[in-house]
Amino acid sequence: MAVLSTLITSLPSLSNIILYAFLSLVVYIVFDIVNQLFGPKDAKQPPVVFSWIPFMGNAVEFGINPIQFLQNCQKKYGDVFTFRMVGKKVTVLLGADGNQFVFNSKQNLSSAAEAYNDMTKYVFGREVVYDAPHSVFLEQKRFIKAGLNTECFRQHVPMIVDEVTDFFKDFKKPTGTFDAYHTFGSLIICTASRCLMGKEIRAGLDGNVAQLYYDLDQGFQPINFIFSNLPLPSYRKRDEACKKMAELYSSIIQRRKAENDNTNADLLQALMESTYKDGTPVPDKHIAGMMIAVLFGGQHTSATTTAWTLLELAARPDLIRALREEQIEKLGSLKTDLTFENLKELTLLENCVRETLRLHPPIFQMMRKVIAEKVTFEKTGHEIPKGNFLCAVPGVTQVDETYFKDPLKYNPMRWIDLDDPVHTMEAGDDADVDYGFGAVGISSKNPFLPFGAGRHRCIGETFGYLQIKTIIATMIRMFDIELEGKSVPKPDYTSMVVVPEKPANIKYTWRE
Ligand code: HEM
Repeated sequence: MAVLSTLITSLPSLSNIILYAFLSLVVYIVFDIVNQLFGPKDAKQPPVVFSWIPFMGNAVEFGINPIQFLQNCQKKYGDVFTFRMVGKKVTVLLGADGNQFVFNSKQNLSSAAEAYNDMTKYVFGREVVYDAPHSVFLEQKRFIKAGLNTECFRQHVPMIVDEVTDFFKDFKKPTGTFDAYHTFGSLIICTASRCLMGKEIRAGLDGNVAQLYYDLDQGFQPINFIFSNLPLPSYRKRDEACKKMAELYSSIIQRRKAENDNTNADLLQALMESTYKDGTPVPDKHIAGMMIAVLFGGQHTSATTTAWTLLELAARPDLIRALREEQIEKLGSLKTDLTFENLKELTLLENCVRETLRLHPPIFQMMRKVIAEKVTFEKTGHEIPKGNFLCAVPGVTQVDETYFKDPLKYNPMRWIDLDDPVHTMEAGDDADVDYGFGAVGISSKNPFLPFGAGRHRCIGETFGYLQIKTIIATMIRMFDIELEGKSVPKPDYTSMVVVPEKPANIKYTWRE
């Protein structure tokens, strides 16, 4: 008994444990601060942004307003610097040269797969995109790009018009308001499913497909980038949804094959007819994975771009008038059917979408992970060590007055007036490079890169523009619109793409 009592009294009390833990934390924080201020530094490496909290680093400032944070760092450290975020070291390379360095980095030096696959493999499934060897992924990109062709686009335009008309039938009142991001999220999933995913998925949207999509989407949040796998219900549901989605696609493919149903103008059909270079037909699970990747590549990006465009237009009645006049002048009237061909003539409309993508790029930064011992940014001589993330930030470059006059102003005319320095900049000579899915089409040195550049460049740009332009062109025929609030909302950076901060309501009035 005496021994037991001595043991109990010699054990540290709970308050002592808390005290020790607190003191250890303080020592750790102080040590980290002293180390940042006075510790040894490798002069060849980029300057490191100071942070008060070890491990978390600058995550909070970055999370609240990354553009502001990076602009502040740029003023202090220049175009190249490293910041710490939740245990990761991110080296930011700003400006046209920074873009070129990150986007043109060789495959054996830095890798997008190493940066993204921990998150994407659970949503897209295995052996596709970043979970496939890079050469196979490039083949997969080629299949998808081939399926997004002019012949299909011709059929897509009336389908999109049809979906928009049908969607807004639910707006029964002569006038009312709607939340821009939520509304276009719901509309784009209908248009993209109809054009790309196939009629079967479109038909299933009212039921189980929407739930599967939702569960997968919960696996595509910023937290998943930091913690790819946690024992939480959202992670479990994500894994189940990925499996069920693959089974669903497999059953659709089998039915189409069995019934010889092969006249569909959708991407699913194109992938079913593709074959790898070595002659292997594309397995059903690869097709399913690519379809999920396309859905995620295009869904939030297109929804937020449409929302921002309509919000910017709602604040500018002069532009809406000009857009209607453009349709009357180029197409004859506001009743002429929209087509793939006549949409190309609506240059002001195109420039409105382009200007939205400049000011509100849905993906404002793109990452690669250094896999070589180090990479050297020749322009400044900085060496970036293995394990660091390289980060190009078109979202900062696109509002930099070095390249754009009055950069914070929404001015679609800048794309035809050619006053901005960006039009006289010397571009790199890498726009014609073909990594295996056709010429990339834009130099990685361009300061305007909302679709990225180089081997990871977006292949959905043409479809993206087509979809957004068709929706806006149709909507301005149907409605007069105004902002409900006083000004265009601020950006909200807390999700994977940059969305308008709530409330982001648009007031509509049916025309005629
Ligand atoms: C890649 C943006 C629509 C499919 C990218 C990248 C960006 C981007 C910035 C490069 C990512 C990186 O370098 O890390 C956008 C925007 C869109 C859009 C702003 C619409 C406004 C679409 C659509 C599709 C799509 C509609 C599918 C039909 C892809 C694919 C990649 C990609 C497959 C390749 C990823 C890689 O090679 O690593 N997109 N995208 N995107 N996007 Fe898009």
